[in-house]
Amino acid sequence: MKSVLVTGSSGLVGSEVAAYFSSQGWAVHGVDNNQRAVFFGPGGDTRWNQQRLAAQLRHFQHHELDVRDRDGVLALVASLAPDAIVHAAAQPSHDRAAAIPFDDFDTNATGTLNMLEAARRACPGSPFVHMSTNKVYGDRPNTIALRELPTRWDYDDPRFAEGIAEDLPIDQSMHSLFGASKVAADVMVQEYGRYFGMPTCCLRGGCLTGPSHSGVELHGFLSYLIKCNIEQIEYRVFGYKGKQVRDNIHSLDVARFIHAFVEAPRSGEVYNLGGGKGNSCSILEAFEMVEARTGLAQRYVYVDQARAGDHICYYSDLRKMKAHYPGWDITQSLSDTMGQIVESWTLRHRT
Ligand SMILES: NC(=O)c1ccc[n+]([C@@H]2O[C@H](COP(=O)([O-])OP(=O)(O)OC[C@H]3O[C@@H](n4cnc5c(N)ncnc54)[C@H](O)[C@@H]3O)[C@@H](O)[C@H]2O)c1
Repeated sequence: MKSVLVTGSSGLVGSEVAAYFSSQGWAVHGVDNNQRAVFFGPGGDTRWNQQRLAAQLRHFQHHELDVRDRDGVLALVASLAPDAIVHAAAQPSHDRAAAIPFDDFDTNATGTLNMLEAARRACPGSPFVHMSTNKVYGDRPNTIALRELPTRWDYDDPRFAEGIAEDLPIDQSMHSLFGASKVAADVMVQEYGRYFGMPTCCLRGGCLTGPSHSGVELHGFLSYLIKCNIEQIEYRVFGYKGKQVRDNIHSLDVARFIHAFVEAPRSGEVYNLGGGKGNSCSILEAFEMVEARTGLAQRYVYVDQARAGDHICYYSDLRKMKAHYPGWDITQSLSDTMGQIVESWTLRHRT
């Protein structure tokens, strides 16, 4: 039986990847230490998801390990020599990073190096998939000409009609400390591909979402927005008139792409991974869609000051992913995804 090691396995992406590979007959080793609860407080607690995996998945083993623990990581990867590694553990928030720069960099940059070097020593031929972020582009997307529509911003430049592709420069723009620590990891993952020839790739995510997210104000756009609607918490809109655009991809489609890469890996690749234009929405549009589902008015307050370095309009150009992996496409529409998140929060709200 093939085995995959998934870091951040109690989080949104890691848990979906664990479930997907398990459904394909793989043994799954999850690494997580519930650090999300340390980063974001009780709202970020992921133990419920860890317990769900333990109860539902066949051949799943949880390893309580911090990816910053170099010796622990080297020993675990050496003992397992997995057939694939999916690295999804991270400090994932833009804004949180400024308050905890050492924790952020140690987790995102050094934690990734620990995983890469452990893989090189124990299983250099195993595909290594790294969850990167569109924040590696810093706020450069904000320099693209925009036009203002009634409920959203959109690109006013035909070169970006399909969204942002992988050739957008990544430096000389504002990244936030989070974006900078993720750039370090992203470039290192590419280098282990280019320099050592390992089958690595970086997935530069837009908004990754789904029912298993423990959404909080600082991370998890749709999950948190829907939680606020259901629990009637006041949502804060930061700048850009609420017309800022995000492309949302269900974590199941993320897991499907990762599986496609693992089955036919390439070396040192980067992909922009999001919902694309078809699954994009502004905050105002998201309010409307959720209200239509739940029948509850969204309570919100507008804050004039935009978040530092925040994208005004971002959607991913998915053409490279589709060209390299023609069997892959988006299968979960934005509307279906929202329905699943509503259902999940409604259940969690009751229990
Ligand atoms: N969700 C998004 O919108 C989004 C967008 C772009 C990129 N990404 C990237 O995708 C990856 C996964 O994101 P997610 O949304 O699933 O986040 P998440 O917070 O839901 O999951 C990450 C998991 O990693 C664990 N973790 C954190 N630090 C750890 C450490 N030091 N050791 C062990 N475990 C640790 C957390 O407890 C959590 O369960 C991250 O790299 C993130 O930067 C996410």
